[in-house]
This record gives sequence, C-alpha cells and structure tokens, in this order.
Amino acid sequence: MSKTIFIVGLGLIGGSLAMNVASESGVKVIGMDADHATLSLAKNQGVVHEIAEDFTSGVNQADVLILATPISITIEYLRLLNELNIEKPLLVTDVSSVKHQVLQAAQKLTNPFISFVGGHPMAGSHKQGYTAAKSHLFENAIFVLTPAKGADESDARTLKNLFSTTGARFLTLSTKEHDEMTAVISHFPHLIASSLVHQAREWQKTHPSLEHLAAGGFRDITRIASSNPELWQDIFFQNKQLLIPMLDDWIGEMERMKQLLYHEEAQLTHQYLVEAKKFRDGLPIREKGAIPSFYDIYVDIHDQPGAIQNVIQLLAEQGISIKNIRILEIREGITGALRISFQTGEEQQSSYQLLLGNGYEVTIQA
Ligand SMILES: NC(=O)c1ccc[n+]([C@@H]2O[C@H](COP(=O)([O-])OP(=O)(O)OC[C@H]3O[C@@H](n4cnc5c(N)ncnc54)[C@H](O)[C@@H]3O)[C@@H](O)[C@H]2O)c1
Repeated sequence: MSKTIFIVGLGLIGGSLAMNVASESGVKVIGMDADHATLSLAKNQGVVHEIAEDFTSGVNQADVLILATPISITIEYLRLLNELNIEKPLLVTDVSSVKHQVLQAAQKLTNPFISFVGGHPMAGSHKQGYTAAKSHLFENAIFVLTPAKGADESDARTLKNLFSTTGARFLTLSTKEHDEMTAVISHFPHLIASSLVHQAREWQKTHPSLEHLAAGGFRDITRIASSNPELWQDIFFQNKQLLIPMLDDWIGEMERMKQLLYHEEAQLTHQYLVEAKKFRDGLPIREKGAIPSFYDIYVDIHDQPGAIQNVIQLLAEQGISIKNIRILEIREGITGALRISFQTGEEQQSSYQLLLGNGYEVTIQA
C-alpha cells in the first residue's frame, strides 16, 4: 500500500530519516524546512519527492507526519495541528531529545484521527544541518519510542516498519523513564562539561599556556561540550525540571568536597575517591565508553560484512595496536559509529591519518 510521509525539518536527523524513508517502495516523501537551500538540495537529491507549500497542505496529504525540528518548534507544530481540520488517520511522531513537553502537547491533540508515538533516535553528530545527514546515521543505534495515551501497538509497529532500513534497534519507554535516564547520562554531564570548559577559559586569561596542558583527562570529559549549542540550549530548557534538582545535589556535593579540603579531612577525601573509583571500575565493560580513558578515534563505517575487519587490517598492517574497539549504540554529538581506543596519542594520530588517507570519515574528539 502506498504511503505519504510528511517530514518537517530536514536537518541532520530529519534529513537522515528522509534518506531512509524515501528509498522504500510505495512511499512518497513530502518535505518542509525553514531553510530554502536545504529544501532544494533534498529535492534535487531525490530525498524528498515533493516540497510542501505549507504545513497545512503537507498535513492534508500525509499518512505519517515526522516532526524533526528543534524541540520548541516541534511543540509549536503540535499546537498548530489542533487547529487544522484533519479528516483521515494521521500518525504523528517526532525525534526530540527530551520527551516530556512534547508528549504534553501531543496529549492535548483532540482530533480522534490523530495518534502520536514519540521517537528519539539516539545518534547524531557534532555537525548539524542537511549537509551532515547520512542514510546510515542510525545503524545499530538505539531508537526510543514513547507512545502517547491512545496510541496502540499497531502505530508503533508502523513506525518500526517505516524506519526499518535505518538499522536502528527500537526500545519503548515512558517519557518519564526516557527523560530521567537521558538527564543522568547525557544532559547533566553536558552541563558540567561546558562549565569545566568555562572555568579553563577564565584561567587561561592569566595562564596563556594553559591550553597546551589541556590534554588527556580534561579533553576526555569535556569532549561533549563541542556539540551544537542551539540543540543543547533547547535540551537543557526542555529538561530543566530534572536538571535543576540535579544541579542542587551537585552544588551540595561540591560544598561538602570544599569542606573536606578546607578541614584537611584526608581520610574522608580518600574514601570519597575510593568509592567513586569502585563504582566507575564496576561499570559493565560495555558502559566504559561513558568516560573514555584511552586515546580514541571515531570512524564512520557502514554496517556491512567486513567493514570492521577492513579498518582493523589497515591498522594491523602498520603495526598499530588497538586497546579497545566498540560499536556505539548511543552516539549523540559524535560522528562515527565505531570507536577505537589506543594507548598513546601517537597511535591515535597515525591511525587518524591512515584511515583518513584511505577514504574514511574519521574524527578525533579528544
Ligand atoms: N543532533 C543530535 O545529536 C540529535 C540526536 C537525536 C535527536 N535530535 C533531535 O532532532 C531534532 C533536530 O535536531 P538536528 O540535530 O537535526 O538539528 P538541525 O539543526 O540539523 O536540523 C533542524 C532543521 O529544522 C529546520 N527548521 C528550524 N525551524 C523550522 C521551522 N519553523 N519549520 C521547518 N523547519 C525548521 C532547520 O532549518 C533545520 O534544517 C531536535 O529536536 C533534537 O532534539 C538531535
């Protein structure tokens, strides 16, 4: 059966989804974007088959509406949907990194023809916009679905089928679970990373050589501060209900740490570090990437037989030893699905040059 898919926002995420959806048989993709250059590029490349005159005309033709705009704009479009006269079934989804307020807006949709299943494909890049989009962006990534009240199993199934060529792995969560977990493992660390960079920036004013010392640990834990600022401002504001109490806890914890140092509580400080180390070391191996401890490179590869072996072979031929290798399932703010870790910065640099020279897209974000 033929389906018409209306995608609003053809940037990194919307463009990448459109590339997958447009390749399916019997699917017509209508696109809309605030940026005209993006729209014409997507149309010329056949990633969208038609350009919508406006939101209403796109919605009127669509069986599925995908909102892939910044979160606050997605919420605006959901509000707008309530004002339209929709007289046939419309499945609506989004790609927002924070779900609570999007779901709240979706629950206010009164038209019985509309059902809403939220989505969050947990892959991205430090780049943004249509030119950074790629069809294999979501290969092996986690794709969270958050159905609204009233959406049934078949709606989620429709989306899984529609996005099946992405190669993502679907996971259904409540919005609460989704937002709490992403706050802890992604949004809050991002806040702290950015604040650490600000601290270093202040100190550099009086210590100009500081940037030459900012190696290893500092670069590891601040890597994510290099991601798209507009996206992250939006995420922080959308998830502030959870981030504000986390900041309170953190400030309290730093206050306690300050007291330990002030009163020279050597034993308690040692205990604090031991407990942190114990918990960090006890994380399952596959979680270790949360805080990379080696010199990492990120290689963009397609999920096809031999893809990893080709990379490993190139490195082996040059006698470069790999410390760790991992396919990343959650990679927001990172370009490249394969993370390879080395013991030294020299190995990292020569691997980077070698793979780059062999046509791979490689990033060093340390
Ligand atoms: N980048 C990531 O790592 C990532 C990962 C998962 C989900 N997301 C989510 O994806 C969404 C989009 O992020 P992105 O990284 O693709 O951003 P992006 O900047 O690459 O793309 C956003 C697109 O929306 C368009 N747009 C902006 N306002 C519009 C409007 N009023 N009407 C129509 N189009 C409009 C822009 O022109 C742009 O093409 C966000 O909600 C974000 O939370 C991002």
